[in-house]
Amino acid sequence: MSIESYIPKLVRASLDNDHRTVRSICTRLIRRLKDSHPDVAKEIADALAYHGIGANTLRSVGIDGGPLDAESRKSLAVVEEPVDVNKPVLSVKVERLIDDFIAEREQAPKLIAAGLNPPSSILLYGPPGVGKTYLANYLSGVFKLKFVTLDLATSISSYLGKTGQNIKSVIDYARQEPSLLFLDEFDAVAKKRDDMSDLGELKRIVNVLLKELEDWPSHSILMAATNHPELLDRAIWRRFDRTIELELPGENERLQLLQEQFQDVNDDRTKNLLLILANLTEGLSCADVCKLSERARRKAIISNEDLTRIIFQELASFTDKRETIFYKKFSKVARDCFQLSVRELADWLGKPPSTVQYYLKDKDEKERNK
Ligand SMILES: Nc1ncnc2c1ncn2[C@@H]1O[C@H](COP(=O)(O)OP(=O)(O)OP(=O)(O)O)[C@@H](O)[C@H]1O
Ligand SMILES: [Mg+2]
Repeated sequence: MSIESYIPKLVRASLDNDHRTVRSICTRLIRRLKDSHPDVAKEIADALAYHGIGANTLRSVGIDGGPLDAESRKSLAVVEEPVDVNKPVLSVKVERLIDDFIAEREQAPKLIAAGLNPPSSILLYGPPGVGKTYLANYLSGVFKLKFVTLDLATSISSYLGKTGQNIKSVIDYARQEPSLLFLDEFDAVAKKRDDMSDLGELKRIVNVLLKELEDWPSHSILMAATNHPELLDRAIWRRFDRTIELELPGENERLQLLQEQFQDVNDDRTKNLLLILANLTEGLSCADVCKLSERARRKAIISNEDLTRIIFQELASFTDKRETIFYKKFSKVARDCFQLSVRELADWLGKPPSTVQYYLKDKDEKERNK
């Protein structure tokens, strides 16, 4: 059958609103055009995806269009296949909440039989780098759901005027078939409230979100994340099945992260030093601890130097937003572990030797008094 002969059939089916036939003709056209005219094939695929009638069809020919902006045809969200990532390191309390969420979803048929819905939405809040995005990614792997990310901050600024409509398209896409929709920078819907010109638009967006949250299909999960929970409307909070605060990691969690990062290290000295490091990394986020460890591992490989010494050296200059108590503890531990002179310590810390002497003084005085 020639390509031209599909045209009258396609016109008839479109005029009749016969989506099934349109979809089937389009699938054949995409297959025929994929190699000779990839751009045309992609455009047909995008059109199907945008109208929400083609996700299965597209996948059958190896294309996942993802939701698109109607005019610019730009992608509105990032669609990724689920991947298995390590379980994030969480406080005991948060881990229990997450395990319960997983268990309840795994028992969904039982709940539904009893007239109850399984939980399907989570609002995560907490400072940067505590694993909000990572946790959402992890859950998409646990439930084998496509990971659909919509960054509200960028979508609101780049599609102002039709953001509500675009958010709706992404949500429709995520509802259409099982997926985990992750709304990042969720506070962006609230942030601009003081800007009167955007008020109408933002109200519409919030209304769209509230409505969607109300009857979110149980086969999909909606997760939202924010660093600024105080900006969110009470009405929004109420709609989420779970609201979970991720805090900066405590000493136990930092130790767990360090042990994961240095799991190949077997010598007892390094293992013991990780206990000390877990204490010295107070105030750092999980992302910071991972970054610090990765930097040290990289340097140790390149320089062939002692890994523990490098970790401490990296920690000394990792951030300058430190309290004196850190410098005092650090100076004493580093001096004792690596037999550093005051000058070397001063170099590591980027401080004058006299200041380092002051950091070291306390304990020495105490020891003298013993
Ligand atoms: N709880 C955690 N357990 C294990 N690794 C973590 C954890 N939190 C963060 N990480 C590591 O740090 C990286 C960055 O964290 P992530 O992007 O998830 O933080 P976030 O809370 O989403 O931050 P932001 O508010 O800036 O978006 C992750 O990819 C992961 O490697
Ligand atoms: Mg994030």
